[in-house]
Amino acid sequence: MKPKINNDYYNHLGESWYTADNDPIAILRAEQKTKNPWIEKKIKDHFPDSNETIKIVDVGCGAGFLTNYLAMSYKNVTGLDASQASLDVARNKNEAIKAHEAKYIVGDAYQLPFSNQSVDIVCAMDFLEHVENPQKVISECSRILKPGGIFFFHTFNRNFLSWLIVIKFMEWFVPNTPKNLHVLHLFIKPKELIKMQFNASLTQQECFGLSPRFNTAFLKSLFLRRVTPEFGFKINSSLALGYIGYSIKN
Ligand SMILES: C[S@@+](CC[C@H](N)C(=O)[O-])C[C@H]1O[C@@H](n2cnc3c(N)ncnc32)[C@H](O)[C@@H]1O
Repeated sequence: MKPKINNDYYNHLGESWYTADNDPIAILRAEQKTKNPWIEKKIKDHFPDSNETIKIVDVGCGAGFLTNYLAMSYKNVTGLDASQASLDVARNKNEAIKAHEAKYIVGDAYQLPFSNQSVDIVCAMDFLEHVENPQKVISECSRILKPGGIFFFHTFNRNFLSWLIVIKFMEWFVPNTPKNLHVLHLFIKPKELIKMQFNASLTQQECFGLSPRFNTAFLKSLFLRRVTPEFGFKINSSLALGYIGYSIKN
């Protein structure tokens, strides 16, 4: 039988979302230092001078790493997640950083509470590998996007190397990694993702790999088995592990 993904883990993180260095959430926090500016740049390229008007929805937003980041620049940003506890952390952080007020709503990515073609940007970061039916979620994201709107994603490739690094190495490296934080069968091959987007009237524009920087901070983290603040990621051309990209709604 296929293992069930452990999404309950997010309900119990509390402030650790933003503080833990011995928990896999610290890896996600390290990734967003690279992902968030990349996304913001793409938004600015596509929608210059529209900070006041564009509507952004971050699906499976967790504790708002991206939602709160975008709320620093954009007025109309909403984060949606199934975990009320995570949204409480996100809201507190939003107040603390004095960004524009982000809306946070508890909900299910399979049934987004937005009308057809009402949103300019939808983000699904580190999220598609957490649902059993990513095609249905992508179609739902596309439904709410206006034509010309952008769908951003980050997920993991399904192959032996991902199993070894993203699942097994992570369990060794980060001591508090719970069982089934990730499950291999929910990882998505880049070609499958292109097809799913195509089926949902989304045409993929760009896709890059995201992998750790192999430097002294990496070695220090390995040695301490803690994710140090300098631990970081870089965007590159290899889609072998995690990958980030975006598509445009036809
Ligand atoms: C790996 S976290 C990603 C959080 C955030 N996107 C980020 O990159 O920091 C996955 C999130 O998906 C949420 N989630 C899982 N299934 C969901 C669903 N069906 N609808 C909405 N959120 C869901 C979990 O509660 C969790 O916060």
